[in-house]
Amino acid sequence: MSEDARNHLLAWCRPGFEPECAQELVDLDVMSGGGGYPRAARGGGFVEFVARDAEAAAGLQRQAGPRGPIFARQLLHGIGQVGNLPREDRLALLVPVIRSDPRRWCDAWVVSADGDAGRELRALCRALNAALIARLKREQVIERDSPWRLHVALLSPARALVAATHVKHSAPWPGGIPRLRLPRAAPSRSTLKLEEAFLVLLDEDERAAWLQPGMSAVDLGAAPGGWTWQLARRSIRVTAVDNGPMDAALMQGGLVAHRREDGFRYRPGAPVDWLVCDMLEQPRRVAARIAEWLRHGWCRRAMFNLKLPMNKRYEEVRLCLELLCETAGAGLDLRARQLYHDREEITVFARHA
Ligand SMILES: C[S@@+](CC[C@H](N)C(=O)[O-])C[C@H]1O[C@@H](n2cnc3c(N)ncnc32)[C@H](O)[C@@H]1O
Repeated sequence: MSEDARNHLLAWCRPGFEPECAQELVDLDVMSGGGGYPRAARGGGFVEFVARDAEAAAGLQRQAGPRGPIFARQLLHGIGQVGNLPREDRLALLVPVIRSDPRRWCDAWVVSADGDAGRELRALCRALNAALIARLKREQVIERDSPWRLHVALLSPARALVAATHVKHSAPWPGGIPRLRLPRAAPSRSTLKLEEAFLVLLDEDERAAWLQPGMSAVDLGAAPGGWTWQLARRSIRVTAVDNGPMDAALMQGGLVAHRREDGFRYRPGAPVDWLVCDMLEQPRRVAARIAEWLRHGWCRRAMFNLKLPMNKRYEEVRLCLELLCETAGAGLDLRARQLYHDREEITVFARHA
């Protein structure tokens, strides 16, 4: 059983988006030779993917990252599967599977699915995680400098997939979910989307270089100002475009100019460092508008949301990204992800490389 699991991948995703996540894994697999197939239950919060062999599975896992799958928050490569975990001592079956792999681990995470599906297992995960770490330390297989991270995906009280990721190709948060606190001064919860987008879609060096005090930005669909607030708190000057009212305290900071205009018509007087956009609009219309900004060089980088339709969500995403690639001009660096703080939407970063 544990040998088969090396052909397996497990993708954590937003519950309800298993079909999109599965379709995307199929497409990625086809591009690298194919032969795999997905297994998912709607609402489960994860997709299992059985690749044609262990090498193919490892190759797919290496594609995870900011330019990797959109609907997979984290992509794990299987080591072994365990069913019939005994309630009184789950480690008794898990540890031998873990020890069948010669690697040392920088850390070990026991995680269940996001949402209702995994909620009942969360307390169990915490308890099991503490016990597992203690046990692995005793067995001297925790080595903080190791590039490998161990995952135990608890899929039910009795079933788990033991899996691995390389730290370079994996989000540094259990389940791919950065737990962010809503800052008290932020005008809206939406602020967390942009904060997460900066964390997930940019690396540390990019954040340092591209989010500098004194830079300039335009925020289309800015009201009440959660996204603008993220920029202003980094001392970036923002033109906030929206007919709706902006948060009064944010406007008093002196870094934000409010323009009551249509975001589809507004043009900046001079190129800006950032265009951000969270307008509630048809995704194709937004994608076309962002492409126009990039093509004309009105912004150096863009971070924006595409609100997904009820049906054919995966097709719509592909279409929008193709439209961007075709119309924004050659050499586009495009990264997209359905973030934890996204709902029926995805977040996209784009710039000319
Ligand atoms: C989800 S809210 C934005 C929330 C904002 N990002 C925040 O963090 O507080 C969407 C906004 O898009 C604005 N909007 C929709 N269509 C627009 C348009 N054509 N031009 C400008 N703003 C628009 C709405 O007025 C609304 O305030």
